[in-house]
Amino acid sequence: MRKNIVAGNWKMNKDYSQAIELINQIKAGKPNTTTEVILATPFPYLAKAVELVAGTDIKIAAQNMHQAEGGAFTGEVAANMLTSIGVNTVILGHSERRAYFHETDALLANKVDTALKHEMTVIFCFGEELKDRQDNNHFNIVEYQLRDGLFHIEKENWKNIVLAYEPVWAIGTGETASPEQAQEMHAFIRNLVDKVFGNEVAENVTILYGGSVKPDNAKEIFSKPDVDGGLIGGASLQANDFFGIINGI
Ligand code: G3P
Repeated sequence: MRKNIVAGNWKMNKDYSQAIELINQIKAGKPNTTTEVILATPFPYLAKAVELVAGTDIKIAAQNMHQAEGGAFTGEVAANMLTSIGVNTVILGHSERRAYFHETDALLANKVDTALKHEMTVIFCFGEELKDRQDNNHFNIVEYQLRDGLFHIEKENWKNIVLAYEPVWAIGTGETASPEQAQEMHAFIRNLVDKVFGNEVAENVTILYGGSVKPDNAKEIFSKPDVDGGLIGGASLQANDFFGIINGI
């Protein structure tokens, strides 16, 4: 179901005490809002995070998971290891996973299938590189990533999908996409979902923007008709900045 979401992707940041402190700050100071707030902490803190947010409307997500359901995959984390501690949302396809860990669209399609099999909500990330945009190839790149990594799913599984458009050139750079650029791509994405899966799915899918969202630019970006919220990196690591973004919706 389409809704407003602000999700914090902490990436590989915070030690245990810092993580607990930030979660408690967010619990204590989160604006009173209908916007869904999700915290994607590093793996070691997920169980404690679930315990700390119990009784609140804050959700906890993992930043990744393996496509296999268990076995000899040293260092990896399987879906049931997440769901068994109350983590039912997972980020998949983040550009840093694609770039640094060589995650292909085909691999991500397998990860999506495993997450859906475990009835998890998937925040599916995609977005173009700077050169793709400079070459005016960004719409093609986004379409390929969606078709090859996600569009194999059954129509009824879209209830468990959140889309996150994150232009790689805007991630961690301070070079935020303009509200117009974000809206243009989000409208393209929604129209593509409509073309392939029909209008009901397209109108009910949540599409988040990610890439240097800050308190001073969130409101204008989130005001666009096809932007339903944000996937936030750096600014999610400070409670007041995160609140400023949540208040932008
Ligand atoms: O997943 C969100 C992240 O990639 C955005 O990072 O630091 O540009 O907000 P940042």
